[in-house]
Amino acid sequence: MNTLYARDEAAIAGIEKLRFFPLEVVSGHGCTLVTPDGRELLDLSATWTASGLGHGHPAVVEAVSRAVRSAPGSGGLSAVHPDSVGLAEDLLDLVPGSGERRVYLGHAGSDANDVALRACRHATGRRTVLAFEHSYHGGVGVAMGVSGVHVDAGVAPDPDAVFLPYPNPFRPASGDVAADVAACLKLADHHLATGAIACLIVEPILSDGGLVVPPDGFLAELHALCRRHAVPMICDEVKMGLGRPGTLHAFEHDGVVPDIVTFGKVLGGGLPLSAAVGPAGLLDKPAASALLTTAGNPICTAAGRAVLATITGEQLPERAAKVGAVLQDALRAVDAEQVGDVRGRGLAIGLELVDPATGEPDSRLAAQVSYRAWELGAVVYYVGGNVLEITPPLVLSEDEAHRAAEIIGAAIADAAAGKVDAEEVARYAGW
Ligand SMILES: Cc1ncc(COP(=O)(O)O)c(C=O)c1O
Repeated sequence: MNTLYARDEAAIAGIEKLRFFPLEVVSGHGCTLVTPDGRELLDLSATWTASGLGHGHPAVVEAVSRAVRSAPGSGGLSAVHPDSVGLAEDLLDLVPGSGERRVYLGHAGSDANDVALRACRHATGRRTVLAFEHSYHGGVGVAMGVSGVHVDAGVAPDPDAVFLPYPNPFRPASGDVAADVAACLKLADHHLATGAIACLIVEPILSDGGLVVPPDGFLAELHALCRRHAVPMICDEVKMGLGRPGTLHAFEHDGVVPDIVTFGKVLGGGLPLSAAVGPAGLLDKPAASALLTTAGNPICTAAGRAVLATITGEQLPERAAKVGAVLQDALRAVDAEQVGDVRGRGLAIGLELVDPATGEPDSRLAAQVSYRAWELGAVVYYVGGNVLEITPPLVLSEDEAHRAAEIIGAAIADAAAGKVDAEEVARYAGW
């Protein structure tokens, strides 16, 4: 059968695929994805949060159409343009910080993190990066080498990376999360005190590592340690930032002001766009050392400005907090002994699937639930082996939130009852 999916299998490199079921899409609107045969799916991933405003948001359509019609070229490398400068100014307004600051504009969360990490190494003259186990910061360069998820998958870590354990309130390593936090901070302090650390990079909510929400105050204590040792902290808001956690920035929850903040995904409204915001002393030098020809191009930056204006103008963080609470409540009401935990902030929600007999993670079930949810009409993936990552567009309505919980509940019941074809699911390797 020459379906779109079969043609993809024959034409597109496997190296760039992460598949959970044979999803084919030809269009989308709001929180809905449309398949070639006209089937409508409720999108509970938002393209791993990149389609955070929903599909075909009019503000993005308008901005991109305007930019395409009038775009005078393609990059910010050797010319300036009102939308690239304007986007940088918008970000400086929206990201707290003091002193002289700059914005790096790039294409993906990966290059924003990579550039931020390299800039810290250059400015401090030190090499070691403190990062976290099971973290994800990108698929290229240093950002890849300090990503715990890649290391878990067998990729060689950056030779100068040191990984700290991320405290997990649902599965505390020592049996007591407060003790885990104390141990992590002690280890961080030990490394920071060596004077060899270029920077620390952290996700405010560990996302690909299993949607782990750290205990309140963890980020603040980590940041205080970094300050004490004069080591810059990079807060990676690529996946969780810009409204999703119910605040504009995820780090606001702990009241910290990180030294460098990186953005991606939702920032481009579906187009490739990322940013790193931080001190001029870190991001200005060495000159011409992070050159991507089309970075800061007029089309993506026009989209970025529209996205930021929509998130703030339509109070999407407040909306994510409200609808996220409805969705989390509805998920907690799912009556299934396979649901070990429902956690999250706003519309960043993790549902952990476990073996009811042992309480251990059940990754096989997660793969089957994800597949069954697709059959029942929703797109939801899993992270950390066994955690459904529920990150719908920020424009999700309360009705859609209830429908999402119904589909997920039914998918769990069906998978647990053995109604999912395990052989068929196995064709999609997932992570
Ligand atoms: C927290 C975080 N940082 C960085 C990235 C990399 O972003 P991109 O895939 O756009 O390069 C991701 C991607 O999943 C992410 O989740």
